[in-house]
Amino acid sequence: MLGLPTAALSAFGYARFIEPRWLEETRKTVVTGRNLRRPLRVAHLSDLHASGLIPISFLEEAFRRTLAMQPDLICITGDFVTTDNDFDPAKYEAALQMLSAKVPTFAVMGNHDGGEWAARSGWFSTNQYIRGLVGRGGVRVLHNDAAKIEIAGTPLWLVGVGDWWSDELRAGPAFANVLNDGAPVIVMNHNPDGKDDCGLRPWDLMLCGHTHGGQVMLPFYGPPIVPVIDTRYAVGLNAYQNRWIHTTRGVGNIVGIRVNCRPELSLLIVT
Ligand SMILES: [Fe+2]
Repeated sequence: MLGLPTAALSAFGYARFIEPRWLEETRKTVVTGRNLRRPLRVAHLSDLHASGLIPISFLEEAFRRTLAMQPDLICITGDFVTTDNDFDPAKYEAALQMLSAKVPTFAVMGNHDGGEWAARSGWFSTNQYIRGLVGRGGVRVLHNDAAKIEIAGTPLWLVGVGDWWSDELRAGPAFANVLNDGAPVIVMNHNPDGKDDCGLRPWDLMLCGHTHGGQVMLPFYGPPIVPVIDTRYAVGLNAYQNRWIHTTRGVGNIVGIRVNCRPELSLLIVT
């Protein structure tokens, strides 16, 4: 008679205390067809969700392991926080500086970072506070903006768009200065449902988060809840109109549970 409750408790303990902290490093190759001097190593992190559930010490471990993958570039696709203040902002900034001091690090904002959606959840009505925190961490936020950088002699366009749920995605200004000059174009876009707003502008690879991969993957069923309309792009590397969308499972989580959906540190080898 004790068997069933014991198994249920064990399963809950695993989903609550083991898997959410069990980071998985993944490596995927993205073929752009562009002429690069050498493959670029792009670390894609997302959904850090610093909060009462996700301590900064866990993020520090994630950042150490990210740096150990020797990326050329680090892209963080939003949701730096959840909807509480249960973290030390100075400690968070110092943790982000671990990354930015070693590797060029760029980011966009997610729905949890402030804006219309967050305000409806009783949180920041703009992303000003989180953009400030992230900026003090040495991370450059591209909010409907673009930058041309150079990695190992290879020029690269980086575009960052505002969050789709927050109604801040403005592809026009984001791409306004991007030239179709042969350099690869990587777009950071928190929510993959925003892809169609970017449409067929010149981009090769879009980096997304937001879904956390569903957080709970039931055998023979998949995730019961995925907060996107187009579930084809909910997780992983998927083709879209002769280009690629990568949606990572993210590092942190909300509600504290993961099942068959470990937190992910992605390294994309862009060729
Ligand atoms: Fe998130």
